[in-house]
Amino acid sequence: MKDGKCAIAIVGCGGMGGGHAIAIGSGTGDAVWNATKITDAKAVNDGVTTDISKKLVLAGVYDIDPARQKWAADMGFYNYPSYEAMLADPDVDVILVATPNHLHHDLAIAAMRAGKHVLCEKPVMPTSAELEDVMRVAKETGKVFYPRQNRRWDKDFLIIKKIYDEKLLGNTFNIESRVLGSRGIPGDWRGVKEYGGGMMLDWGVHLLDRLLMMVPEKVKRVFCSLTHITNDEVDDGFKMHLTFESGLTAVVEVGTCHFINLPLWLIAADSGTAVIHSWANDGKMVRLNTWEDKDATPILAGEGLTKTMAPRQGQSIEELELPDVVYDRNELYSNLVDTINGTAKQIVTPEQALRVLKLMEAAFESSEKGIVVNFE
Ligand SMILES: NC(=O)c1ccc[n+]([C@@H]2O[C@H](COP(=O)([O-])OP(=O)(O)OC[C@H]3O[C@@H](n4cnc5c(N)ncnc54)[C@H](O)[C@@H]3O)[C@@H](O)[C@H]2O)c1
Repeated sequence: MKDGKCAIAIVGCGGMGGGHAIAIGSGTGDAVWNATKITDAKAVNDGVTTDISKKLVLAGVYDIDPARQKWAADMGFYNYPSYEAMLADPDVDVILVATPNHLHHDLAIAAMRAGKHVLCEKPVMPTSAELEDVMRVAKETGKVFYPRQNRRWDKDFLIIKKIYDEKLLGNTFNIESRVLGSRGIPGDWRGVKEYGGGMMLDWGVHLLDRLLMMVPEKVKRVFCSLTHITNDEVDDGFKMHLTFESGLTAVVEVGTCHFINLPLWLIAADSGTAVIHSWANDGKMVRLNTWEDKDATPILAGEGLTKTMAPRQGQSIEELELPDVVYDRNELYSNLVDTINGTAKQIVTPEQALRVLKLMEAAFESSEKGIVVNFE
């Protein structure tokens, strides 16, 4: 720790590690993808975002791939000659693990045993047993192990969380959270089981982490079907049904073979419904003002008539804009440093990550056996 700043070194400087290097190296927190120069990164000037240049400094990176070493050198980052050299650097306070998932366990443990704190990319470990191991070492060494569940700071999630928390549409009875893509699994380690591949571990971990953060209840039951449309070895998507203790239900879906998208979020409450279509945060809330015009005139629907499904008209409902949210998009980096300094409570904890991993394992079991799994 120098001048009150934590020095961070990144192991695995590929897509995400490179993004962190740009974000931290530029002092902005902005992982500007494909940037050629750090100076292209946007400045922090909105008055809400923590200026991480006051808290974090990039010590350097280590990657086994010479092409990534060259990229780092061209960007002006220091390349450590080995992981051992990085761990031996007394100026380094934190190791950021951003390698393929199967390597997180050994790299994180080696870092903590060398006296470093760890910021670990998601999924922190491919299995809950590995995370329990890592948590034991964190306890033994007194080091901070910080899971990087950055999508808790996605605006779409924060909007939905506000609608849920503040009961803007009454009591929620169903939440749908999904991400659908059309490119299959990337042709890298994500398609290989022993490297911790598959979309449950890749995207499921984000969607489930956010859901569990939003709904402060036990998950009673889980039913899940994994898909293998483009990849036999690992799941290329899944659909999961969860039932919480109060009876609230959730559907979580990830797909990689969808050429028409469904909304990222659909939240149904007893006095309204909200939708967010995409990461542009385009969507709306429709609030019920009165049940009064419940008995609608039947409409022609296909070859039949329905009054149950006739759309509402007039004053009984009201269309509203989604609420706005103000948040610090650098809060995770900032909280990491404050946690290390003992000035704040850790926001993303290993215990939370463990619960999510166990939930994913329940989902794997459900899919494999074709059963509903009782969870908590
Ligand atoms: N939080 C997020 O939003 C987010 C987004 C993307 C990726 N990730 C996570 O980041 C991690 C890396 O993903 P990625 O997309 O950057 O993958 P990637 O393949 O682009 O990068 C991984 C890098 O690790 C390097 N590497 C492999 N073994 C190594 C070793 N022993 N020592 C040092 N370097 C090694 C590779 O050469 C490669 O450059 C994964 O855990 C992934 O889940 C998180």
